Amino acid sequence: MSTNNRREFLKIGALAGLGLISSNVLQAKDSIMKEYDEKLIDLKSEKRILGPGKHQLEVAAIGLGCMGMSYHRSFVPDRQMSINLIRNAADLGLNLFDTAEAYGPHSNEELVGEALQPIRKEILIATKFGFVDGMPSKGLDSKPETIKRVVDQSLKRLRTDYIDLLYQHRVDPNVPMEDVAGTVKELIQAGKVRNFGLSEASAENIRKAHAVQQVTALQSEYSLVTRQPEQTVIPVCEELGIGFVPYSPLSRGLITGYINERTKYNASNDNRPALPRYQKDAIIANWPLIDTLKDFGDMRGLTVAQVALAWILAQKKFIVPIPGTTKWAHLQENFDSASYEFKPEELRELTASIDKIKIVGERAVGQQAQQINN
Ligand SMILES: NC(=O)c1ccc[n+]([C@@H]2O[C@H](COP(=O)([O-])OP(=O)(O)OC[C@H]3O[C@@H](n4cnc5c(N)ncnc54)[C@H](OP(=O)(O)O)[C@@H]3O)[C@@H](O)[C@H]2O)c1
Repeated sequence: MSTNNRREFLKIGALAGLGLISSNVLQAKDSIMKEYDEKLIDLKSEKRILGPGKHQLEVAAIGLGCMGMSYHRSFVPDRQMSINLIRNAADLGLNLFDTAEAYGPHSNEELVGEALQPIRKEILIATKFGFVDGMPSKGLDSKPETIKRVVDQSLKRLRTDYIDLLYQHRVDPNVPMEDVAGTVKELIQAGKVRNFGLSEASAENIRKAHAVQQVTALQSEYSLVTRQPEQTVIPVCEELGIGFVPYSPLSRGLITGYINERTKYNASNDNRPALPRYQKDAIIANWPLIDTLKDFGDMRGLTVAQVALAWILAQKKFIVPIPGTTKWAHLQENFDSASYEFKPEELRELTASIDKIKIVGERAVGQQAQQINN
């Protein structure tokens, strides 16, 4: 349903609810709907800024992670449904679309490119380089010649002649960060790339990169079960004016209440079965978090996912999460979470309750664990 249709639907609901009986009631209805319309318009127009100076991007408070439409989330939905979803997201007001060479590999960039081609100038595309043949299992590769080659290939798949935000997907210990930043700087000068980002980089590497080429955004895992960025990289982003883009802000669906100990995955296209937090015992042990968010949300008309996203958005104005979804209902739900404003006391109390819950299960293991926060 488009935003306009949704508004009409809600108006009709409000009219029916009010019974259309007197002019006083009609006036009251008008004022309620005006307030509601204004809120929706505010929601659609609320923008956040990622990045400093000449390398700022103005984005909606919530972006769209497109990975799960092709990769790592068990099922792959019908391609045309995903294209429609991406276009409807832009209609709703989302303007930051996240993909990577590695998602598929390649097929997710192709999907995003096809979906966004008709509205290319109205939206922002973020993609990433950094693995051998675009495959994380083959190891890291951020050699300058690889970055340049991958960017040319990504541009073709994305059906565009510029990338709004190009991230290094993981820091490559074999290539000095200054060389990576210098290569992206050249690509910016050549007009193929507009802004530079890092993913899962350490504070030290963020500083090194930023000294060569201003960094627009750091994209790292951040959610109510992964709070480590608060200690290190978020303060550095704040200091340098760099935006922070939390990936997996719903912890891959865990912080929604939809995943439980009976959830089945397709292990050939899902990384969750290999991660400690998605094991039965950990899901059960961490359930008090879901209960806490549900209790908070139930009293305010919010879902568990909405409380989780609203909490992230309330931390800093330069934070723009990119929840992934394959469903229009979830997309609207996630986008609407940006309209909830916590009262300071309320946020303090919710955070205090969350802080008391000890999260069970490591965030990552093996090669994945070695490649984060470098
Ligand atoms: N930089 C990196 O290294 C990195 C790593 C991972 C991901 N990412 C990016 O971050 C994006 C999001 O990450 P993610 O997909 O790992 O995790 P996520 O956004 O935390 O969770 C996505 C999962 O949650 C479900 N979901 C979303 N909204 C929901 C709602 N309102 N209610 C119930 N379930 C909901 C989705 O299923 P449905 O489809 O059923 O809604 C999907 O399975 C990716 O698309 C990708 O662009 C980046």
